[in-house]
Amino acid sequence: MAKPKKIGILTAGGDCPGLNAAIRGVGKTAIVKYGMEVIGISSGFLGLIDKHYFSLEEHMLSGILTDGGTILGTSREKPFKKSKRHNIDKPGRIVETYNELGLDCLVCIGGNGTQKTAAKLVNEGLNIIGIPKTIDNDVWGTDQTFGFDSALWIATESIDRLHSTANSHKRIMVIEIMGHHAGWLALYSGIAGGGDVILLPELDYDMDVVNDYLLTRARNKKPYSIVVVAEGIAKPHKDQSAASFIANRIEEGTGIETRKTILGYIQRGGSPSPMDRILATRFGAYAVDMIAQEDYGKMVIKKGEKIKDILLSDVGSKLRLVPEDHKLIKKAVGLDICFGNRY
Ligand code: F6P
Repeated sequence: MAKPKKIGILTAGGDCPGLNAAIRGVGKTAIVKYGMEVIGISSGFLGLIDKHYFSLEEHMLSGILTDGGTILGTSREKPFKKSKRHNIDKPGRIVETYNELGLDCLVCIGGNGTQKTAAKLVNEGLNIIGIPKTIDNDVWGTDQTFGFDSALWIATESIDRLHSTANSHKRIMVIEIMGHHAGWLALYSGIAGGGDVILLPELDYDMDVVNDYLLTRARNKKPYSIVVVAEGIAKPHKDQSAASFIANRIEEGTGIETRKTILGYIQRGGSPSPMDRILATRFGAYAVDMIAQEDYGKMVIKKGEKIKDILLSDVGSKLRLVPEDHKLIKKAVGLDICFGNRY
């Protein structure tokens, strides 16, 4: 009989709701279904460089499904990027630790940066399976990452709450939503939360169009407006937040009292939504089925309602951005939602 497999698992990049559900999905399937041994790597790729890891036992996976964050810890360590802190061959250390541990496969749960690193580790000769996560929903190749749905709930609820205070004061409220270079979270929460203006990194915007639109609303007896801004929109100064920049330009251009809210890390914290728990669990279980079949070098994805996989080498550095002609944008324009340009 073949020796049971030994696998490592790590979470890397910014955390998001659903990481523990994915760790549980991988761990329970590996231990219960296949009798594999599981090693938890601490703080992303840093744990492999600094040799911080522990035996992940089945009892440790109970009660974590609903918890936010990650029991493994995470870091933004990019081992293939030169840095001053470690004057060492980081990829070499990762390969060394993998071999010392006698791993048959390493499961890398993370966003774009993590999947890029995972693909490079495949080239170093390691058996890798990637699982995509991020609130940004911008990992190329998958229809959805876990973390997005939970963040969408939080962002939508926050926008909902702005309506009453905006109405009471007859103000314009600008809310900044995370998403890095992608506008998925701003687009979806903006539409779900009844935003009047939605500005995305993928679309050019013109402040004259935005201000004319807001003034027209005021003239049409709309007492307040909600402006949803993705953090990654184009702006002149890198250090100024998107919300500050847009709120200042609106107040100057319309003369209407304007306030800003930056939602920030609230969007990444707390318990995962039911949909994220399910997606993370499905991704985790599927990843281990692939390991059992020794089908390595791939990332698990969601396509329609199905869980599938693609080559990590195909994911590379590609980003999944909102297409300009996305059907939600087209429908929203028909509802007189302004995207900052003249359609
Ligand atoms: O990728 C998730 C994300 O929350 C982005 O939306 C945001 O731009 C970034 O991480 C923040 O990164 P950090 O945790 O390093 O501040």
